[in-house]
Amino acid sequence: MPDSRVPRLRRFLVCEPRHFAVQYAINPWMHPDTPVDVDLAQDQWQALIRAYRTHGHTVDAVDPVADLPDMVFAANSALVLAGRVFGSYFHAPQRRPESTAYETWFKSAGFDVYRSESVCEGEGDLIPVSLPHSRLRSSEGTPIVLAGTGFRTTREAHHEVQEFFGVPVIGLKLVDPLFYHLDTALFVLDDENICYYPEAFSPGSREVLARLFPDAVLATREDAMAWGLNSVSDGRHVFVSPYAEALAGRLADHGYVPVPVDLSEFHKAGGGIKCCTQEIRS
Ligand code: ARG
Repeated sequence: MPDSRVPRLRRFLVCEPRHFAVQYAINPWMHPDTPVDVDLAQDQWQALIRAYRTHGHTVDAVDPVADLPDMVFAANSALVLAGRVFGSYFHAPQRRPESTAYETWFKSAGFDVYRSESVCEGEGDLIPVSLPHSRLRSSEGTPIVLAGTGFRTTREAHHEVQEFFGVPVIGLKLVDPLFYHLDTALFVLDDENICYYPEAFSPGSREVLARLFPDAVLATREDAMAWGLNSVSDGRHVFVSPYAEALAGRLADHGYVPVPVDLSEFHKAGGGIKCCTQEIRS
């Protein structure tokens, strides 16, 4: 298996952390009294962008807006599938204006944007993947969307997503406030397999994941606490937190190539590599 993994080149949308700060607390990782080193955050973020480009990926950037300190977490802005943009409606009032800023970018890049009517935080809670060995599988398009709920994105939004894209949406209940977005507890390894931390999910949702992905790579609480599940994979290279060493080792055993990228300053806001990365699927 090692060396058989093939990367697929991606198009990512990111937002420079020029105005990044921890000014309010909307998840348990955020402590507004903890100082953020803005220069270090900039360096870490630049290193992530370099890592993507070095591996052949295309990176677009949206202009950061002052007074939107969480705008760097581009994943939350939308879910983009087959060139169609399902825009977010943020849970926290502090983040709601981000939707307009991202919508402006998407429109200027030639995309129409649908805005969710219910609370929905984009790729933070919506993760497209294909079912392994399923008749639903197709070479074009994305057969299913895994959709988190419990802390941010609502069940109503899951229905809206299904209607909008016409793909089955599988609702998964998150139960641990530390893992408040689906992308803090689960990421896609390649077109049909995932890596996740089971205890972040309700018993029923755990069972659903075990049925759909019997060959998933399972992560521990340590891996999740080290931001290991907030990774981005291109099918071969996994851009992963360097603090999730054990997980990186397991991924290597499965034939993936871990590419460590340290985003420690962003962990203070409850974010990591995937949170900073929106994938534009055309
Ligand atoms: N401070 C941000 C929030 O709580 C962090 C968002 C992290 N993004 C993510 N995709 N998990 O909304």
